[in-house]
Amino acid sequence: MDITTLIRPEIITMDSYAPIAPFDVLSSRLGRDPAAIIKLDANENPYGPSPRALAALAALQYAHIYPDPESTALRAALARDLDLPAQNILCSAGADELIDLTLRLFLRPGDGVIDCPPTFGMYSFDTAIHAGTLLSIPRRDDFSVDVPAIESSITNHQLPIPKILFLASPNNPDGSLLPDSALRRLLALPLVVVLDEAYIEFSGAPGRASWVLEHDNLIVLRTFSKRGGLAGLRVGYGVFPSALMPHLWKIKQPYNVSVAASTAAIASLEDADYMADVVRKLVAERNRMTDLLSEFPFLRVYPSRSNFILCRVVGRDAKQLKLDLEGRGILVRYFNKPGLTDCIRISAGKPEHTDALVSALHRLRSE
Ligand SMILES: Cc1ncc(COP(=O)(O)O)c(C=O)c1O
Repeated sequence: MDITTLIRPEIITMDSYAPIAPFDVLSSRLGRDPAAIIKLDANENPYGPSPRALAALAALQYAHIYPDPESTALRAALARDLDLPAQNILCSAGADELIDLTLRLFLRPGDGVIDCPPTFGMYSFDTAIHAGTLLSIPRRDDFSVDVPAIESSITNHQLPIPKILFLASPNNPDGSLLPDSALRRLLALPLVVVLDEAYIEFSGAPGRASWVLEHDNLIVLRTFSKRGGLAGLRVGYGVFPSALMPHLWKIKQPYNVSVAASTAAIASLEDADYMADVVRKLVAERNRMTDLLSEFPFLRVYPSRSNFILCRVVGRDAKQLKLDLEGRGILVRYFNKPGLTDCIRISAGKPEHTDALVSALHRLRSE
């Protein structure tokens, strides 16, 4: 028999996620030493973990014992950091896991999920895995969320009536923030609003984790991948309304946060000054890069409140530009999908990374 006929049909037809290649794979593909690669394609934090986190990892004692399923120590540290009750916090293997877990909690096959592209690809990807129906409500040309269109998707009794709305603020890939007024209007709808704040620390805005205590349909997601420089260890967290917590505990994989990940995350929170300093440096570099890139006539630079910048390439082939930079060891993300035609996204790096990028662009301009 053909064993694949037993696979769920929605898995057979869904697109696969195109992950970013890690350093070792890149290194052999590009024939360059990892140290000679400037990786500005995945919004990682080039400063890496805090020295305290590295020391705690080096001294790790209990890697042979399963981790605490409740991440009690990390949740207590986060509760202090956020000034919110630990009871409302759930830790995870990255924010990605909580996108999946939230869908697992609410979605039955066919249920509607609102996605506002262009945005982070995991919302539509996980909806497909859970056999949900994706209702795409595109952002406007300036990447603002079309709140009236979301409202009418509900009031028009369109079927299926959407259950969940995913929004990133700052949004990936453009870096725009969702205004408070828009969020308030959306929270008034009979929907679960998942606000993904993976990049909030770079925005200078306060974030809305505390709003969860006042809105029983709001979930806020955060991560240590960006400000904490722990993307490779996979650790994130969410703030959830109290009523959801018992059900989330039931369905979560028991050992989802590894001993190493929680140790590093706790040590990072104890080194808050280091994380704040790194965030300051990356924000300064984002701003400097915005100014420098704006001088190139073939780049239209969008304002960003995150640790990356989206540029539309005009009068040149964006894909070729990405490949030309790659040939010089500089990796950026290229997009060619609706709303993002001819776009590249460049993560903020260290000052020397910006300098190398800008001089490569000058050379390409004169070639
Ligand atoms: C908007 C957004 N949310 C979540 C994530 C994933 O975070 P994590 O590494 O914690 O899974 C990313 C990663 O790029 C992202 O862009």
